[in-house]
Amino acid sequence: MSDPLPDQLLLRALSGERTKQIPFWLMRQAGRYLPEYRALREKAGSFLNLCFTPEWAAEVTLQPIRRFDMDAAILFSDILVVPHALGQDLSFIEGEGPRLAAFEEKDIDPEFFDATLAPVQETVRRVRTELSTRKALIGFAGAPWTVACYMLEGRGDLAFSAACNLASRGDPLLDRLIDRLVIATSRYLLAQIKNGVDAVQLFDSWAGLAPTAHFHHLIITPARQIIDNIHKEYPNFPVIGFPREGSAFYEEYVRETGISCLGVDQLSSLKETARLCGGKIAVQGNLDPQILLRGGDELLRGINATLKAAGDAPFVFNLGHGVIKETPPEHVAILARAVKEYRR
Ligand code: CP3
Repeated sequence: MSDPLPDQLLLRALSGERTKQIPFWLMRQAGRYLPEYRALREKAGSFLNLCFTPEWAAEVTLQPIRRFDMDAAILFSDILVVPHALGQDLSFIEGEGPRLAAFEEKDIDPEFFDATLAPVQETVRRVRTELSTRKALIGFAGAPWTVACYMLEGRGDLAFSAACNLASRGDPLLDRLIDRLVIATSRYLLAQIKNGVDAVQLFDSWAGLAPTAHFHHLIITPARQIIDNIHKEYPNFPVIGFPREGSAFYEEYVRETGISCLGVDQLSSLKETARLCGGKIAVQGNLDPQILLRGGDELLRGINATLKAAGDAPFVFNLGHGVIKETPPEHVAILARAVKEYRR
């Protein structure tokens, strides 16, 4: 892990400081809306080849920083490289999204796991060397429930019925899978930390699909276990939790998981969430990515409303979900300028 770098605006906010200037980065800030990404993506041939070629993945990680000067870079990879490293073959079909081989229950093979993910760790080292010390590098992983949704369905889906059915009947197969993912995810994130990331985000993009009666043991307990595992080796290491569409459980999530920052989606009130966090942990979010896509006056109003809604809470500006691929890069430039110039 790199030495603590207190001059990173993002880390100051994650440590609970009410910074005057607001740090910002955007989920999916690297990707298809950028022509320079599309050029490298074409050269790489496949998305996975791009993720697993450290020179290219590092370049793609840094592209949005060069253009928009965000306060943090997010490692370029994907949450589905973890199932791949657990022996479930992954591919991405052009225009359709991810495909995973049929799910089979398997023990973790630590050597295969580490070897498969070694290129990602090299990307971390490269980016940390190239990135300004004033900027944070954010590592990430999918949270166990969200990754299990893909592993069991074999593809992206709006309902993820396979995982939801197992969850609602309390099938022990799902519990065993979640337990295994807690171990794998802790190992993967700890390696990212060792190699130099400054903070990590746990993406629980499908938290909102978990049956209410099972939310606690599918979403909150695994997050707490992963964060405990991180804090055993790196006490107080900053973790951003993003239980998307899980706002009914934000209070428990904040109280029990040990996160330093709560990622808020655009369906939730940032103001209410900041109040709920009580200034003890930071909030991150939550401009609607559709507003960034549309641009114009609505965008400027949306940015201002988001900045105001955070009040005096420790705050990180972000979207409520990822940048949409049709977003004009000029809209991101407008956002960057507005957030950078703002002082509270
Ligand atoms: O800039 C960043 O945020 C870092 C890179 C990143 C990607 N995926 C790159 C990517 C991150 C953090 C992710 C996380 C991810 N991946 C999530 C959680 C966040 C979220 O969006 O809810 C999920 C659910 C996935 C799974 C995934 N990856 C899907 C469903 C797809 C296909 C849909 C799509 O948008 O194409 C991907 C592919 C993917 N991951 C792309 C990128 C840039 C596009 C692939 C390409 O360029 O061909």
